[in-house]
Amino acid sequence: MEDLSLHILDIAENSINAGARNVEIVVQEDRTHDVLKIEILDDGRGISPEVAGKVADPFFTTRTTRRVGLGLALLDEAAKAANGRLEVSPIPDSGTRVTVTFQLTNIDRKPLGDMAATIVMLIAGNPDVRFIYRYEHDGGKYVFDTQEVRKRLHGLDMNAPEALTFIRELITEHTASLS
Ligand SMILES: Nc1ncnc2c1ncn2[C@@H]1O[C@H](COP(=O)(O)OP(=O)(O)OP(=O)(O)O)[C@@H](O)[C@H]1O
Ligand SMILES: [Mg+2]
Repeated sequence: MEDLSLHILDIAENSINAGARNVEIVVQEDRTHDVLKIEILDDGRGISPEVAGKVADPFFTTRTTRRVGLGLALLDEAAKAANGRLEVSPIPDSGTRVTVTFQLTNIDRKPLGDMAATIVMLIAGNPDVRFIYRYEHDGGKYVFDTQEVRKRLHGLDMNAPEALTFIRELITEHTASLS
């Protein structure tokens, strides 16, 4: 079974392909309301409301467009299987927002998986893009921001192996202490 962190990697790649310079990933685990909410926001070229309403539908997209993938359709399927839903919408004058929810305790909800690995892979491939990762677990909150971390690297490249190892451990440690 594929973890949600791999879906998130796929959706964030859409942002990169759309020319985004800033990508924000928000994961909220809310046990009170039994909801897991994931948002990916970018400042890429954006998406028209018409396209946004249809990307999650593989039948529509395969029929009408040539170069379509299944990234959003697969996430939509994963959400529906766990009593949730996917929404893709334009951010006015800015970019694109993908919001997906799941029933947290649903037996068919995929596990979140290794988010630190996903963030590290995104940074490794796109060292000049600013990535912000917010993780909220009930009351607790952790924010990772490449712009902040860059200052702590003392000139080391963002995608240097030592930097990526440091980032992976940083995210793993901080998010583990919340859950
Ligand atoms: N963040 C985004 N900004 C702009 N357009 C987007 C964004 N995300 C998705 N799209 C549009 O929706 C389409 C479908 O996205 P989806 O991830 O489902 O498939 P894909 O990226 O085309 O292919 P694959 O993910 O399989 O490589 C994209 O081709 C793109 O036109
Ligand atoms: Mg894609």
